[in-house]
Amino acid sequence: MSESLESYAASGPAAKTEPWSPPIDLRSATAADASAILTLVTAHRDEGHLLPRSFDEILRVAHRFVVADRAGLVVGCAELAPLGPALAEIRSLVVDDEARGDGVGRRLVVELTNRARAAGCEQLCAFTHGPAWFCRMGFSLVPHTWLMPKVLTDCVRCPLFRRCGQYAVALAVPAVRMRRTGAGESAA
Ligand SMILES: CC(C)(COP(=O)(O)OP(=O)(O)OC[C@H]1O[C@@H](n2cnc3c(N)ncnc32)[C@H](O)[C@@H]1OP(=O)(O)O)[C@@H](O)C(=O)NCCC(=O)NCCS
Repeated sequence: MSESLESYAASGPAAKTEPWSPPIDLRSATAADASAILTLVTAHRDEGHLLPRSFDEILRVAHRFVVADRAGLVVGCAELAPLGPALAEIRSLVVDDEARGDGVGRRLVVELTNRARAAGCEQLCAFTHGPAWFCRMGFSLVPHTWLMPKVLTDCVRCPLFRRCGQYAVALAVPAVRMRRTGAGESAA
């Protein structure tokens, strides 16, 4: 069975023994980050089969993004897109190549989970061609029809409806809030 987000967040990835580089902090994105987010998403669009995003669209929903910031450079991003009162979707999750494997992707998902919970959301979902990473974060593969708000909002309008090849993954938003400690995140 996949490791839960809570237990994974409590332990985090093994520390790397590489030369020092500035710490990576998570923060809410602003309109000023739209260009950096677009660059990240575009650069990794093929690799992650990511939804194409336009500058104007990102600008409009910039407040829904969390970015990973290393000394003023955006090295990761993810959007929490509401699909209804109880469901939200993780979109445009990207960590730049040189910042990968250090738990930044996990931290972004934990942060979005906390934000979803604070907004009264009960379930997070994502649509992906590579579900293994999400399953490692505690998500489960689910039928698309379990996420009807997504199907009715986006899928029915998509030219690849019923043949997109994407997997739906979902995570019940934990009842316990994740908090950051010096060693990573742990359940409060
Ligand atoms: C997926 C992605 C966001 C992960 O970012 P990251 O910062 O490297 O993730 P983390 O460091 O938090 O990874 C956590 C664990 O997942 C593992 N992992 C990495 N890629 C994986 C994959 N494809 N499948 C399963 N596990 C994977 C890592 O090895 C790490 O394990 P460890 O803690 O035992 O070392 C990043 O690879 C990425 O931006 N990919 C391109 C875009 C994409 O695919 N987005 C998601 C699809 S919507």
